Amino acid sequence: MSIEWNSDTREFHLRNDRISYIFRVLESGWLGHLHFGPSLAAGKAYAHLVPGEFFGYSNRLGEPVPFECPTGGSGDYRIPALAVELADGSGVLNLRYRSHRIVAGKPPIPGLPSTYTEVGGEAETLEILLVDSVADLEVRLLYTIYRDRPVIVRSARVTNASKGPLIVRAAMSASIDLPDADWQLITLNGDWARERHIDRRDLRPGRQSVSSVRGASSSQHNPFVALVRPAATEETGEVMGFSLVYSGNFLAEAELEPFGTTRVRMGINPDGFSWVLEPSASFDTPEAILVYSATGLDEMSHAYHSLFRERLARGAWRDKLRPILINNWEATYFDFDEARLLEIAAAGRELGIELFVLDDGWFGQRDDDTTSLGDWKVNRRKLPGGLESLARKVEALGMRFGLWIEPEMMSRASALFEAHADWAVGIPSRPLTEHRNQYVLDMSRPEVVDYLFGVLSGVLGSAPISYVKWDMNRTITEPFTPTMPAWRQGEFLHRYILGVYALYDRLTRAFPGILFESCAGGGARFDPGLLAYAPQAWTSDNTDAIDRLKIQYGTSLAYPLSSMGAHVSAVPNHQGGRVTPLATRAAVAFFGDLGYELDPTKLSEDERAAIAEQVAFYKQWRELVQFGRFHRLRSPFEGDGNETAWMVVAGDRKAALAGFYEVLNRVNIGPRRLRLRGLDPATLYRVSAWPPSAAPDQSSRLIGGDLLMAAGLVIEARRMAFPVGDFLARLYVLEAVDSEPGGAE
Ligand code: DGJ
Repeated sequence: MSIEWNSDTREFHLRNDRISYIFRVLESGWLGHLHFGPSLAAGKAYAHLVPGEFFGYSNRLGEPVPFECPTGGSGDYRIPALAVELADGSGVLNLRYRSHRIVAGKPPIPGLPSTYTEVGGEAETLEILLVDSVADLEVRLLYTIYRDRPVIVRSARVTNASKGPLIVRAAMSASIDLPDADWQLITLNGDWARERHIDRRDLRPGRQSVSSVRGASSSQHNPFVALVRPAATEETGEVMGFSLVYSGNFLAEAELEPFGTTRVRMGINPDGFSWVLEPSASFDTPEAILVYSATGLDEMSHAYHSLFRERLARGAWRDKLRPILINNWEATYFDFDEARLLEIAAAGRELGIELFVLDDGWFGQRDDDTTSLGDWKVNRRKLPGGLESLARKVEALGMRFGLWIEPEMMSRASALFEAHADWAVGIPSRPLTEHRNQYVLDMSRPEVVDYLFGVLSGVLGSAPISYVKWDMNRTITEPFTPTMPAWRQGEFLHRYILGVYALYDRLTRAFPGILFESCAGGGARFDPGLLAYAPQAWTSDNTDAIDRLKIQYGTSLAYPLSSMGAHVSAVPNHQGGRVTPLATRAAVAFFGDLGYELDPTKLSEDERAAIAEQVAFYKQWRELVQFGRFHRLRSPFEGDGNETAWMVVAGDRKAALAGFYEVLNRVNIGPRRLRLRGLDPATLYRVSAWPPSAAPDQSSRLIGGDLLMAAGLVIEARRMAFPVGDFLARLYVLEAVDSEPGGAE
């Protein structure tokens, strides 16, 4: 890994064995992009990659010169990376290279979550200072390259060195110009209960984007996009990923311009955003993580998974095995008391479950969703001994205790609202929009963050609490804060999310032993920003195994299995009413952080035995699942979507777990093959099926890794003893065997 500066050609070259990122200082002093892609030789000049010279204002207007930090108004009519309103109301900038420095490691970004380094020599960071000497505006572009990852991390800091205020209208974390437009755009889209479905479309002339204006990254779009060559697959072709470490309003946009080049920009959504920079003040953007893969989506996803797991997630739980939990939400909703909860916990414990999570309804007068958010005092009618008594009794059963909170919210019917109605986000002269009977607290106010830290520290310190589910059940309307003057209201939504991060930061530091799981009415804030504090997230409120195939498959494009809360729930499913086999529900939930979202006291003998067996199975394989390498094998978004398959392989390739799922049964079809990936071709694997009754034809066969990858596992529906029907799943466990007994294939 190196960051080279060639002072003759004025080129920067960030490289490791897998990627190169190259740009240079143009004659005008602007930064011109040259290459992002496969690793290129060090010590060479690449300026000729971009034909012609660029002389700033004398360039022919509108020509697609590739820039690193494009601004508008001086002949580049594409989407800008930075827009600043100057004292005279104009917005034209002339940002010229002034200096640079290269530092070991990776500096943090004040107030924002970011990736980090842990060992020396792991990464280097280039900081470039650009200056507009008319406006006295300084822009620092930061680029980090890791030694062993195909990743470039970018962010920017804008500083007002002038004597009057300036207004930042747009500040992207990254902008990149690519020399052609032969790309397709992949985005993750949906809504509540159908989050992160994959869409793949051709790039068309003009702009195409996904974004959020909801105050949260949202379930409608995710702050991740990829550009892929039209022929790219999981295993082949060029892919570029773009991910934003941010939980608020974001924008990811691609522009195909008339000369056939592509610009991609990513950052805080400029829609509704502005930031007043007083003299000497700086504004830091969140960071964007760019990944390049020459070998398809699989490699890109692996780069994100390992980076997020190893160098974004923080704290004691980063490297620990995640507990199997049982959550009382779908078992009781708001209707419980201590005895009922302990019945559920005890029944869960008998099944081998390790953590009992008390969900919504334990505080204030909360018997339904109309009341009490903000009143974080235990409801003594339901829990006469308080949280402490319940938690201690749960611990006495041999389980850990976890708790649900929704810090950012306030019900109208609450003591908090009576005392602090002005803490609700809203415009004083207009009605407040209620959603789920609740308002959002103004997290941009430091006193609100302080108050919540005080109250929640009290709650978390009052009992042996090992896990917290931090929910957020509505997005923001009437964005406004009375604490800021009129001309600074464009700062509100970013300040809101900075407040959320501040609270997360303080609580996770104060309670380092607690495992935090983020949640937002399911997966409406499943983003890298929150993964920095909460290493796992509730993937979706929709626990239907068939719907989960698409949700978990789409989520896996950017996020590791260790970040996905995945639960087995009762049937008919509470969200969609579908009835699926218990084994299928488990076979989907095994590919994540396993939990149960049902009433274990209502199970039949057979179901109890089956769940105990699932729990034991997951315990045996969870290290592989949570820390192995994931591969997508068959997409529910392609063809008729009837089949999905994926697998996870241990780091040493001595074990693997593959899942094959079929939505609707098809009668009298021939044998199919499922080609596996990531195995050691020279290793012999013992292949057994789960549950053992599912595919006896496959049980304890010995098959070479080469054959499993080249030809695949044969899935013979007709020979299966498994009851024929819809919504079936088969898992295959692969274990390396040392020597070759007879009968190997
Ligand atoms: C939404 C969450 O996603 C659910 O799991 C549950 O915690 C409810 N909120 C509780 O109100």
